[in-house]
Amino acid sequence: MYSFAHEWGQDPAVIKTVADIRAYVKHARMGERRVALVPTMGALHEGHLELVRQAKNKADSVIVSIFVNPAQFGRNEDLSAYPRTWDADLEKLTSVEANAIFYPAVAQMYPEGFATYVSLTGVSQPLEGERRPGHFAGVATIVTKLLLQCMPDFALFGEKDWQQLQVIKKMTADLNIPVEIIGVPTVRDENGLALSSRNAYLTAEQYLIAVRLNKILFAMAERLRQGNPLATVQHQGAAELFQAGFDAIDYLEIRDAATLQMPGPGPLRILAAVKCGRARLIDNVPV
Ligand code: PAJ
Repeated sequence: MYSFAHEWGQDPAVIKTVADIRAYVKHARMGERRVALVPTMGALHEGHLELVRQAKNKADSVIVSIFVNPAQFGRNEDLSAYPRTWDADLEKLTSVEANAIFYPAVAQMYPEGFATYVSLTGVSQPLEGERRPGHFAGVATIVTKLLLQCMPDFALFGEKDWQQLQVIKKMTADLNIPVEIIGVPTVRDENGLALSSRNAYLTAEQYLIAVRLNKILFAMAERLRQGNPLATVQHQGAAELFQAGFDAIDYLEIRDAATLQMPGPGPLRILAAVKCGRARLIDNVPV
């Protein structure tokens, strides 16, 4: 079983089983500590660490989960190539004073015979949902499991994955999961490129193309604010992406920010997915 000696130490406790994470959370609650969860797939960068810092501001006990979730990768996606960098991750989480790392094996999360999935209609269907069938069911299933295992007061997700954030907000509302979902603005590098574990796939040459994505999206948002028609702004943006040298545009869309459906009266969001060499980059900006 998990030993509580760790809890007031400097290093994060490393917890590998569902029984032990439950014991850890129960103990934190007995001490009236508020618990926050930051779900990740590891290969941590400043974007992830910003979620942990914001979690530390909200809660007394911050759990970071690291689990490369097979259920959210398509057949032709990069599950086996996904970067796994445990030693560096542990060092980074120690530096931001995470309290616990939940690091389960695949067999802990998906024991033999696992048969239950959480899937949504509506918000999960367009954009990423169309290009990556089953992806959001994989995300919704693992996040539901993590929330039920850790029962946090808060769970933090990045706006970098805007549609994922909306899917999780909808799912927790629909299922009455008692947690506050907090979105954290996208952390970018000095050239505006949204930090992503998959940026590691970019060559130096491809990086120069990749940094154009955010600039084109921000320019589109500005043109919309100036009152230009949606269709014109979208076509110009797509032309600029091709000019910049991206290999393909999976999508470039102006959508309702909460439902991801076609624009309505509410706030809008511009979302894009593009291919650049081996990397598939996604980004989004508010209007
Ligand atoms: P992962 O890609 O590791 O991202 C973990 C969290 O970090 C997500 O909430 C993501 O939106 C956030 N994040 C990533 N890059 C960011 C950036 N540049 N700025 C701000 N936040 C950023 O997203 C997942 O893992 C998985 O789908 C997961 C939710 C863990 C379920 O398996």
